[in-house]
Amino acid sequence: MYGFYVNDVWYQVEGDGTAVKACIPTLSMMDGRRILTVEGLSEREKELYAYAFADAGAVQCGFCIPGMVICAKALLDENVDPTRKEIAYALRNNICRCTGYKKIIDAVSLAAKIKREGGDIPKNGSGWRLGERVQRIDAREKTLGYGEYVDDMEVEGMIYASAVRSRYPRARVLAIDTERAEAPPGVIGVYTAADIPGDVKVGHLVQDWDTMMPVGGCTRYLGDAAALVAAETLEILERVKRLVKVTYERLPFISSPCEAMKEDAPKLHEGGNLLAHKHVSRGDAERAIARPRYVYTQRFHTPYTEHAFLEPECAIAMPYEDGVLIYSTDQGTYATQHECAEMLGLPNEKVRVVNKLVGGGFGGMAVQTAGEGEADASGEYPHPSEASSHGYGVYGGM
Ligand code: FES
Repeated sequence: MYGFYVNDVWYQVEGDGTAVKACIPTLSMMDGRRILTVEGLSEREKELYAYAFADAGAVQCGFCIPGMVICAKALLDENVDPTRKEIAYALRNNICRCTGYKKIIDAVSLAAKIKREGGDIPKNGSGWRLGERVQRIDAREKTLGYGEYVDDMEVEGMIYASAVRSRYPRARVLAIDTERAEAPPGVIGVYTAADIPGDVKVGHLVQDWDTMMPVGGCTRYLGDAAALVAAETLEILERVKRLVKVTYERLPFISSPCEAMKEDAPKLHEGGNLLAHKHVSRGDAERAIARPRYVYTQRFHTPYTEHAFLEPECAIAMPYEDGVLIYSTDQGTYATQHECAEMLGLPNEKVRVVNKLVGGGFGGMAVQTAGEGEADASGEYPHPSEASSHGYGVYGGM
């Protein structure tokens, strides 16, 4: 079995009936082979996996599920009564960020049981009465791969946008020269903070995050954007981003919360480095501390954890009536609407945000970075624009 990505979705294809790792097979390797994706499953198989994955609660964001289904099919075609260990082995090359795999293994076990026993495939519960067991309403489209994530969308006349990001975690932006980047054919525009019609700063809790770094401002992390490039094609976009010249003055940076709390730490924000101070106490803490039965002193650390959602973060925006329409892949429709409206200097009702499927999140997609970029680009150009914040080669990072 081979595997490959189509529109960010991991598909696996049947070769000679032998399972192999999915390592980007070339077209010549595929020559003469029969390719099977979830679309090619028989109607009964579609019903089987759609039911089993939904019933087991195995579908969360769904981004990984079509690949899991194809691996499950390959296994069950050979072995209709696999152990959990055999199922885990069959799925070993597929990463799922959401589920922890247990429920996916449950789903494959259930599919195997139904397949062994034959008969009708049960219908998903549909009553939605209190206490009734039901499945996620979007489990089927995610399992069978026809659910639409933003990056699956193609809009006629679409252009592409992506940000030029800071090279330094903390640096003052002395100048941004966009002239060379604006010249090549196919470039729609290169925008900086000076082109933002509303508030440059946005933010969920405190409005302190620069959508793009203004000249004279200081970057606060490597991801801060200095400019936004819009182009007719992804190829032009990637080439042209390198032509934007940003001059920085490098400054000492802070690499941990403990450093940030030091008296002499550089101030990242005007109000200092502390967002909030909470003091929690219960009972008579002083008395308990003064006369404890046991004393245990230790310093505890929690590791940095990347949210690691599988879907590249992106958004599509286009002029809409006298405002803007944004298809977003983030976790907070109203936060996106509110922040884009502030950035564009528009009332909320002129910014319409449609949430497509979200390929993971875990908080990481609660912060909208792509939407603001493409909303800004679409405001200047009467075509839909797509921006990506994480990038996966072709988009390079909004
Ligand atoms: S359900 Fe597997 S990555 Fe989200």
